Amino acid sequence: MSLVTTTEMFKKAYDGGYAVGAFNVNNMEIVQGITEAAGELNSPVILQVSKGARAYANHTYLVKLVEAAVEENPQIPIALHLDHGDTFELCKSCIDGGFTSVMIDASSKSFEDNIALTKQVVEYAHAHGVVVEAELGTLAGIEDEVVVEAGKEAYTRPEEVEEFVDKTGCDSLAIAIGTSHGAYKFTAAQCTRNADGILVPPPLRFDVLEECIKRLPGFPIVLHGSSSVPQEFVKMVNQYGGNMPDAVGIPEEQLRQAAKLAVCKINIDSDIRLAMTGNIRKYFAEHPDHFDPRQYLKPARQAVKDMVAHKIKYVLGSDGKA
Ligand code: G3H
Ligand code: 13P
Ligand code: ZN
Repeated sequence: MSLVTTTEMFKKAYDGGYAVGAFNVNNMEIVQGITEAAGELNSPVILQVSKGARAYANHTYLVKLVEAAVEENPQIPIALHLDHGDTFELCKSCIDGGFTSVMIDASSKSFEDNIALTKQVVEYAHAHGVVVEAELGTLAGIEDEVVVEAGKEAYTRPEEVEEFVDKTGCDSLAIAIGTSHGAYKFTAAQCTRNADGILVPPPLRFDVLEECIKRLPGFPIVLHGSSSVPQEFVKMVNQYGGNMPDAVGIPEEQLRQAAKLAVCKINIDSDIRLAMTGNIRKYFAEHPDHFDPRQYLKPARQAVKDMVAHKIKYVLGSDGKA
């Protein structure tokens, strides 16, 4: 199988009550960890590249790494997606450069300007066989240069979604229902604490999601900022010299619930970073004399693989759906 768009993936996910994981890739070990898990579990998967990833690893290297993963895992559908494209030119460059899906994120602009830019990208993308994800509403956290403070985010307004989708022709829509980017998704003031002193975040706004679904029946919804920030990794980071107090994510059961509804794509990046960092810190602490990158990148890659396998089975529900 060669790289695919998300059209067929989302149709099957919508009808089957599961979601496809969209994992951010920045280097070879991350691509391998994700696709080995998806390949072994026979799961569709989306590999997504941010503007920052392109700046770090170079467009061509990332495309070639993803092509290698496709060759190694011919039994599963893999899509290559631009995450948070912020200009027409960036989207065009990815469309021209082999991506099968792009996101144009004009969510920080006015409703009218968001429509105009999204429509421009859709016209170019569709003419080249590429699909487009758009966004309405803003998430808290950091997306490349755009920083939105917790508490300053804006939930998607369901009354706007039909007009937006009609006028832009986008293929999927990212909405804001309380997820947030990064490893610190909520301030302590927004949370309660459980018996172990771990922050418990406010629940996602399923009412907003349900209202969007009613207005866009059959249309694929996307959730950004959906890392769960597993406390085992946070503990590992902190135990081995790191300092990540009060890192908190989205509870897995809420993502599972969303995946059973119209949410067809769930974005995960921070959990990859935590899995790798926790394991590399542990490795360095336990092997202070080692200096071969293969020695510490191997457990890091395995941790990404195990984490992605867990998501596929217990959060996304996409195992066996290739
Ligand atoms: O939503 C943002 C993603 O986690 C990508 O992060 O822009 O640092 O590559 P990045
Ligand atoms: P996390 O920071 O929750 O992993 O979100 C990633 C994301 O939304 C990428 O677009
Ligand atoms: Zn995002």
